[in-house]
Order: sequence, then C-alpha cells, then structure tokens
Amino acid sequence: MKIQNLDWDQLGFNVNPSRSMFIAETDEDGNWKPGKIVPYGNISISPASGVLNYGQGIFEGIKAFRSAKDRIVFFRLEENAKRFAASAARVVMPPVPQQLFIDTIHEVVKANEDYVPPIGRGALYIRPLLCGSGPVLGVSPAPSYSFIVFVSPVGPYFKGGVKPLNLLVTKDYHRAAPKGIGNAKAIGNYSASLYPQRLAKARGYDEVIYLNAANEKFVEEVGSANLFSLKGKVLKTPRLAGSILPGITRMSVLRLAKDKLGLKVEETDLELEEMLTADEVFCTGTAVVVCPIGRIAFDAEEHVINQNKMGEVTRELRNLLTGIQTERTPDEFGWITSL
Ligand code: PLP
Ligand code: COI
Repeated sequence: MKIQNLDWDQLGFNVNPSRSMFIAETDEDGNWKPGKIVPYGNISISPASGVLNYGQGIFEGIKAFRSAKDRIVFFRLEENAKRFAASAARVVMPPVPQQLFIDTIHEVVKANEDYVPPIGRGALYIRPLLCGSGPVLGVSPAPSYSFIVFVSPVGPYFKGGVKPLNLLVTKDYHRAAPKGIGNAKAIGNYSASLYPQRLAKARGYDEVIYLNAANEKFVEEVGSANLFSLKGKVLKTPRLAGSILPGITRMSVLRLAKDKLGLKVEETDLELEEMLTADEVFCTGTAVVVCPIGRIAFDAEEHVINQNKMGEVTRELRNLLTGIQTERTPDEFGWITSL
C-alpha cells in the first residue's frame, strides 16, 4: 500500500490536511439523510446556527494505527460511538446511530488510507463532529444538524514526546461543574479551558490540573486527559461523578493495571494532597496516550514526582497499551478492529 510522503518524524498534534472528509445532514425532523465523502476543505454554515450561537456541538477523538500485522486498526471504536451518542443526548442533538458512526469512520479512513503514518511513527487522528447547523434565535435546540468527520495524521500531543509533564493546579478556574456538561465531549468544556491553559502556558507549564468545583479538595482531570496517581501497589483515578470525561484510555488502563500488573485499582475521590506525594502520576487520553507527570505546581510550591522521571508502572502501562494498539502484542481483551 502506498503511503504519503510526509515527514512523519516531524509531526506534532496539528492539523495536517488529508484528501477528504465526510458530511451528512439531518432533515428538519432530525432524521439523517445519506452523507457523502467530499474533498477536505471549508464548509458553509448559517450565521444563525445553533453551534455558532449557543455552542450546540460535540466531538470525538479516535486514532487509526498501522499495525504489526500490516493492516490499519482502531482501538475500542464502539466505545467512541457510544460516547458520541451520550454526548449528543446531553446537548439535545439527534444521535448518530452507532453502526452509522462506525461505518462512516471506516469510510473516511479508507478514503485517506495513505495518510495513516507508518507503524510507531504516529497515527491518523479522526475527529467526528456533530453540531446544530440549522438556524435558531431564541435559546433552543437547532432545527437541523450536521455530522462531519475529518482526519489528520498526528504525532505526539505534547512537544518533546513523552518527557514528564510540568502541570499547574488551578484554584482560579474550574473546567466543569457538577451536573453540568463535563462528562460529555461538548465543545463548551474546551472553550472553558482555553484561558486557564493560556495562563499556565505563559508561565511555562504544559497544562492545567482542575479541581472539583464543589470544594476544590479533589483533583478532576487535565484539560485534555484523565489523571492517575500511584502509591505502592494502589492505582487511583478520580471517580466519574458527572464533571469528568469518561475516558476510553482511562477505562482501558484501569483494566490493564488490574489484570496485567496486579495492581489494586480505585475509582475514588482523589485528594490533591495525596497526588502531590504519590510515587507516580500520569495522565491518559487518545491524544496524550499515557503521559508521565513529573512536576505539579500548587500554591506557589513545586512538587516533584518520581524525580521528574517516567515511573516504571507508567512505562509498563504505556507499553501495554501501545503494544495492543499496534498489534505488537496480542489483543486479549478484544479491543482491536481492523479497517
Ligand atoms: N478528558 C478530557 C477532557 C478529554 O478531552 C479527553 C480526550 O478525549 C480525555 C479525558 C481522555 O479520553 P479518551 O481516553 O477517551 O481519549
Ligand atoms: C483526544 O484525546 O482525542 C481529545 O479529544 C483530547 C483533546 C485533543 C481535545
């Protein structure tokens, strides 16, 4: 199979345009009309659309990998399909039926197969979007919707690959409120994180750690990834109490830690103090994979975790996950499907 002649080792997590994308629209009753693959490029949208006026939009993040079996594979794609439907329901949009979601992802990747990086040198990032594209003026759900899928070859999310991250705990901002939309992959959650992220980056941090809005005692997540903290043989991650995104990597890492490494895993209220004195801290996500956290700043104090080095458990979990994703190790949990 021919592969595009891109400089794969220079890829970061940026938009690298591909050949084509997919667009489907609903009729005014919210029923999906047949969609089509079109050349990658700009779309036109009503200035009165629900998404532009009231943020009625959600997205997903998925990777397609070239694998050791010389094929293109997806990791737990049906979980993204389920979460897309759950997020859609939360902001009152007609869900994309799960089989249509999966078939569409396959169709777009097939049409852009040559943009999937060589094994171990990145992935094809798949970005499904669902938004209210019909016009509204009063605050209400839009009359019609668009489902768009575009793809982009990507490399590491953070500059410098997997070097330990330097994160800032903020008490000045919250990402999401209890009973809000934090557990949906709704676009508004990400606009809320841009300003705190900008401030953190200006001070030299890679990203922000958010605390729970109710009393700021417990850690929630990073703006783009879930958090984990290891002490001895116990691996803890914040429980899904409504304001945290239910990460698919999170769910998979919990399983790998328990079944493959014999760790005790706990989904619990995770106190900031506990995380600051942990043996290892890392974050997980489709974009970030499993990424060590080496320094956490809080209240003008810097806490160094594991001497600012990637810990052994973090490394093992990362290797277990990427081994399965690239089919270098057997897929004993049935997480892989191929194009
Ligand atoms: N938390 C947030 C806010 C995210 O945007 C993501 C990315 O999707 C995650 C966590 C990790 O989720 P997943 O592992 O499903 O990619
Ligand atoms: C992902 O991990 O795929 C995400 O969606 C996180 C971020 C890039 C928004």
